[in-house]
Amino acid sequence: MSMIVAENVTKRFGDYVVLDNLSLKIEEGEFVSIMGESGSGKSTFLSVISGAAKCDEGKVFLCGKDLSALNEKELAVMRRTELGFVYQFFNLIPTLSVEENVLLPIYLRKDNVKKQKEYMMEVMERMRISHLLNRYPDKLSGGEQQRVAIARSVLYKPKVLMLDEPTGNLDSRAREDIMDLLVELNAKDKITIVQVTHSMETAVRGTRIVHMIDGRLEEE
Ligand SMILES: Nc1ncnc2c1ncn2[C@@H]1O[C@H](COP(=O)(O)OP(=O)(O)OP(=O)(O)O)[C@@H](O)[C@H]1O
Ligand SMILES: [Mg+2]
Repeated sequence: MSMIVAENVTKRFGDYVVLDNLSLKIEEGEFVSIMGESGSGKSTFLSVISGAAKCDEGKVFLCGKDLSALNEKELAVMRRTELGFVYQFFNLIPTLSVEENVLLPIYLRKDNVKKQKEYMMEVMERMRISHLLNRYPDKLSGGEQQRVAIARSVLYKPKVLMLDEPTGNLDSRAREDIMDLLVELNAKDKITIVQVTHSMETAVRGTRIVHMIDGRLEEE
């Protein structure tokens, strides 16, 4: 099944065409790395395929659903249940502890916290951050912060995980750690992954590389 389909997507900011009649299909189980120069439209593309922003022309299907056919509420539910998203910076709320940050979506959804907490601990241990539960984000390294953000994003077992330069500001050791984790989430948990990265070393850890050039995507 195709998890993400972008069909002839065009996105403009005023007169400026950021995404130019761009098409891409990502199948279930793929781990796609998107590369491209700064300003080429990678983050904009992630916004469009995640439903955070609308395209001006074309269509986007996420997990088989036409995003343009969903109303605000349906879109919000879809994004909360099927999708995990990790930004490059500022993923964590500074006034909340690690545990509170990770449990935030569960509180917001008024889910059974006790039940979800057990699974959270399992995830935290897998990501080697269970000893950090009571710390605050400003007392964590960049790599630890991103592992916390990834833990939170996979708590609901999303079908698709999108990450915008998750290792952009990390050293090579921390970068490797995060990539090992993503490879495992892709291979073992069968989560389809789309990451934006500037580093070829990081990009090759996925199963496929596409390049954003002049508002279009070209296969490696
Ligand atoms: N909301 C907006 N309004 C106007 N222009 C925007 C907006 N968001 C992005 N742009 C412009 O669109 C272009 C693509 O931006 P985008 O953030 O997608 O690039 P990027 O490939 O992610 O770059 P980087 O590698 O630096 O993160 C840039 O020229 C940017 O200035
Ligand atoms: Mg960007």
